[in-house]
Amino acid sequence: MNKKKLKDFDFKGKRVLVRVDFNVPLSDGKVGDNTRIEAALPTIEYLIREEARVILMSHLGRPGGKVVDEFRMDPVAEELANQLGKEVLKADDCIGPEVAKAVSRLENGDVLLLENTRFHPGEKENDPDFSRQLAENADIYINDAFGAAHRAHASTAGVTEYLPSGAGFLIQRELNSLARAIENPEKPYAAIIGGAKVSDKMLVIKNILPRCDYLILGGGIANTFLLAEGYEVGSSLVEEDMVDLAREIMEEAQSQGKEVILPVDVVVAEKMEAGSPHKVVKIDEVPADWQIVDCGGPETIQKYQEVLAECRTITWNGPVGVFEIDEFAQGTMAVAKALAKSDGYTVVGGGESAAAMKKAGVENEVSHVSTGGGASLQFFEGKPLPGVEALDDLEE
Ligand code: 3PG
Repeated sequence: MNKKKLKDFDFKGKRVLVRVDFNVPLSDGKVGDNTRIEAALPTIEYLIREEARVILMSHLGRPGGKVVDEFRMDPVAEELANQLGKEVLKADDCIGPEVAKAVSRLENGDVLLLENTRFHPGEKENDPDFSRQLAENADIYINDAFGAAHRAHASTAGVTEYLPSGAGFLIQRELNSLARAIENPEKPYAAIIGGAKVSDKMLVIKNILPRCDYLILGGGIANTFLLAEGYEVGSSLVEEDMVDLAREIMEEAQSQGKEVILPVDVVVAEKMEAGSPHKVVKIDEVPADWQIVDCGGPETIQKYQEVLAECRTITWNGPVGVFEIDEFAQGTMAVAKALAKSDGYTVVGGGESAAAMKKAGVENEVSHVSTGGGASLQFFEGKPLPGVEALDDLEE
């Protein structure tokens, strides 16, 4: 990454504005999952050790440009203080005179968490005036919010117009880990691409196909490909307008000598809800009024296991079934466990796949689980991330 990093700055006594992704799930007014807070600790602890005055900011939820009490950052400040084992000051806004006052009182090594940046419409609009106001109380800007790096917002991109800027440890780690998997993968390389819609993953499929040896397609995506291959998929979720594209991809894969793995047996259900009647069928026996809910028949799972055991690199984006419902989670759990068992280089895109790793209890048994769902997807699409692009380049 040709961007300035933490070691390129002298932080002592400086007011350092750090964009983190503390967009964490809350439950009963507490942080429900602190993965993203833990992931930001190396940068925050480094800045404390370097005697910076640390000013953290993040979005939380989608409050729509106004103050919404349930999206206040107070529970996050509490959890962060627990993690750091030190006091975390909290401001009630992210710009304005109160923030200026709080910042002016900071001593070296202190940590202040600003209020949700999305309480201001200027955040998502990437408004220059709002960006300038964010920058006003700081000397240096560090972006460590990998999960929000695909957003060109004021706190992730616009603010870099007004301050010297660089990348934090998490952004560096994420980019290195994702790049290692797809830029020069050790072969054989299997890419598992699941999720509900082909349209959401088409760019990823196109970008990964030339790089991988096996393309394992699951979830709703597989249904559209199965349809393209001439199978009846009953009342399964499909995208009719993507069938031609799916056919083109199958032809492309064949001409490039890539193996596309579609399910050979699946779990079908009358309805996509817990408790609905369900059964395993061969792929050419999907009943007309049933739907595919899990690419998790025993033969399919065996194929996944065989292929993944052989691979030196595996990337995973998107579940292969409706894993939130236990009866439909077999395929996705099998994928998670096969990744965990692999001694190759294994990378899990964030979001649902990361949640599935947790459900399977194996989130610590892979090489890298991304903290960014949308951001890692954009990376796998081969597109630049605005929150990284905007940072200062390293001088030649
Ligand atoms: C995420 O949770 O994926 C990031 O924090 C980005 O959130 P957003 O989709 O609301 O921009």
